[in-house]
Amino acid sequence: MFGCVPFIFQNGRPSVEVVIVSDAKAGGELIAEAMAELLRHKPDALLGVATGSTPLPIYQALAAKVDSGAVDASRARVAQLDEYVGLPAEHPESYRSVLRREVLEPLGLDVDAFIGPDGTAEDVRAACEAYDKALAEAGGVDLQLLGIGTDGHIGFNEPCSSLASRTRIKTLTEQTRVDNARFFEGDIEQVPHHVITQGIGTILEARHLVLLATGEGKADAVAATVEGPIAAVCPASALQLHPHATVVVDEAAASKLKLADYFRHTYANKPDWQGI
Ligand code: PGA
Repeated sequence: MFGCVPFIFQNGRPSVEVVIVSDAKAGGELIAEAMAELLRHKPDALLGVATGSTPLPIYQALAAKVDSGAVDASRARVAQLDEYVGLPAEHPESYRSVLRREVLEPLGLDVDAFIGPDGTAEDVRAACEAYDKALAEAGGVDLQLLGIGTDGHIGFNEPCSSLASRTRIKTLTEQTRVDNARFFEGDIEQVPHHVITQGIGTILEARHLVLLATGEGKADAVAATVEGPIAAVCPASALQLHPHATVVVDEAAASKLKLADYFRHTYANKPDWQGI
């Protein structure tokens, strides 16, 4: 029905690969295995990590692989995607703290393995430039995990961010502050207005982009990302510009995809050796 498999895999990969999984746990396992496989080939890989609720099953699955000896992550390096401006690094909801709790400690890594922007710098612009430089000096991100906002943001690149943007300060939309208030005792007043985020151009420099989206609340954003035009109004649609971008979604987040059956067919017929 869809033509021969070699045609689907012309140039080695489809542009944005969509993998529909049964639930968040299966998505976490799939992505953690891709990270483990990367670490088996490149033990000091630079892993770009994201915050939010969605990636937690990935971190849990990867930590389980480390605990069972299925992969050695002791030389892995970790890079931050974004950070609140003005929250002290030791604040429990600064992304530096969150990533220490959710990624570094479970993987047995210490803070030397970690790079991130300084959200408390007096000169925010210089801090942003310094972070882009640090990423480049670290050899670039090998695999960048991404969540997606209900408004289509990646990192904290809110709608109408330049698709060529570099790490910089951004103002959060009201929607994102409402979405994130749950991390601040439900009190939107405590959610900072400003953030430092890797730009879309910065994110696109990672060698492999892996976006995980789960739940019906993400279905519109996922459909716009994958099947809509490349447009700054949906920042995640920039993934269409990347030669190796993978979007992993559960059934609920896939529910508005017109090509869902095609994506299922493509993945079901994919050679095992190719991975995601
Ligand atoms: P969430 O956040 O995983 O908590 O939904 C995603 C994001 O805002 O990028």
